[in-house]
Amino acid sequence: MNLQPKTPADSYTESVQILNLGTMNGYNRLFGGKLMEWIDICAAVVARRHSNRNVTTVLVDTLEFKDPAYANSLVVLCGKVVYVGRTSMDVCVKSYVEKLDGSRQLINSAYLTLVALDENDKPTPVPALTLTNDEERLAHDEAKARREARKGANR
Ligand SMILES: CC(C)(COP(=O)(O)OP(=O)(O)OC[C@H]1O[C@@H](n2cnc3c(N)ncnc32)[C@H](O)[C@@H]1OP(=O)(O)O)[C@@H](O)C(=O)NCCC(=O)NCCS
Repeated sequence: MNLQPKTPADSYTESVQILNLGTMNGYNRLFGGKLMEWIDICAAVVARRHSNRNVTTVLVDTLEFKDPAYANSLVVLCGKVVYVGRTSMDVCVKSYVEKLDGSRQLINSAYLTLVALDENDKPTPVPALTLTNDEERLAHDEAKARREARKGANR
């Protein structure tokens, strides 16, 4: 398997949804569980593209609903790798409502950890992450701090 380092741009993933009545809760807002499903899928595509492996979600570190979304909204999910370990990858997924003029309002941000699996369904090494700008370096440092905080909490 090719373990050449990759950049976040190599696996960057966007997915789009138009909210129909099947995605709403009883009072006409986007059902949170439906957005969580889309976030998980978007993160899995990012991690598959980074590792070229099947992947599984092992942790949702943070998932914050910042604003509601309503029927007929265009929701855009943007996922990228922010940190990699030996076999695991931390993926940030930000979800936006895109208005008719093209502007975007953040409605959710989430951080997930996924693990690459080999042919025997066991964790397997992933390519290193090459950071190309300050925004990526900041996201990487924040992900590292979240990992260290988790380790501290589990001690
Ligand atoms: C993910 C899984 C394969 C890891 O198995 P494991 O025996 O713990 O494997 P390892 O100890 O070798 O850990 C593999 C990687 O996962 C990371 N990991 C394991 N448990 C973790 C946790 N709770 N939180 C964050 N990372 C975790 C390890 O740190 C390691 O990362 P690294 O190689 O980058 O250092 C296993 O826990 C699993 O299959 N879980 C179920 C996942 C699933 O079904 N998800 C869908 C839910 S419907």
